[in-house]
Amino acid sequence: MLKEIQSRRSIRNYKTDVIDKQDVLDILNAGIKAPSAKNNQPWRFVIVNDETKNKISNKMVELYGPNKTAEVIKTVPYLILIYNKDNEYFNHLSIGACMENMILEAESKGLGTLWIGYIKKIEDYVKELVNVDYELVSALAIGIKNENPIERPRLNLEEVLTIED
Ligand SMILES: Cc1cc2nc3c(=O)[nH]c(=O)nc-3n(C[C@H](O)[C@H](O)[C@H](O)COP(=O)(O)O)c2cc1C
Repeated sequence: MLKEIQSRRSIRNYKTDVIDKQDVLDILNAGIKAPSAKNNQPWRFVIVNDETKNKISNKMVELYGPNKTAEVIKTVPYLILIYNKDNEYFNHLSIGACMENMILEAESKGLGTLWIGYIKKIEDYVKELVNVDYELVSALAIGIKNENPIERPRLNLEEVLTIED
């Protein structure tokens, strides 16, 4: 198994230090190497600025109360919005592959990430804020880890696998 698959964790505590923008571009470049149905590459990205990050975080807190995801969005140096360009059947699967590529590339650079699906809950607000007409799928927080979580539990392979006779 790739060592990054084994060592990766969702990181919800970041140092405030900025990270090199080139690292973020490398991570996005890993994302766009992902397979996609019919090679239609449905992913589109926006790197948001601090003002937008703060507004998104504040809106989450306003609607859902203080929470870890909102805290990450506020403190992490980079927040990438990930959009789906059109309504093709397999786009969300392709974008999932893109997300995983980015997360593993970040891990190989020693950087932490958090996949933020929760942002979907404020999609309309984000649409007002960021002038992009595509469907918002998720966000990805990228920064320097300030925690080292133990592996979160997984079902055993036997619990999820059936082998037909
Ligand atoms: C599609 C998706 C959406 C997620 N959304 C959030 C989120 O909004 N906030 C959050 O804190 N974690 C989010 N996560 C992270 C999961 O909670 C995490 O992957 C899971 O608990 C397992 O922990 P691990 O990633 O450290 O192995 C999301 C993960 C995925 C795959």
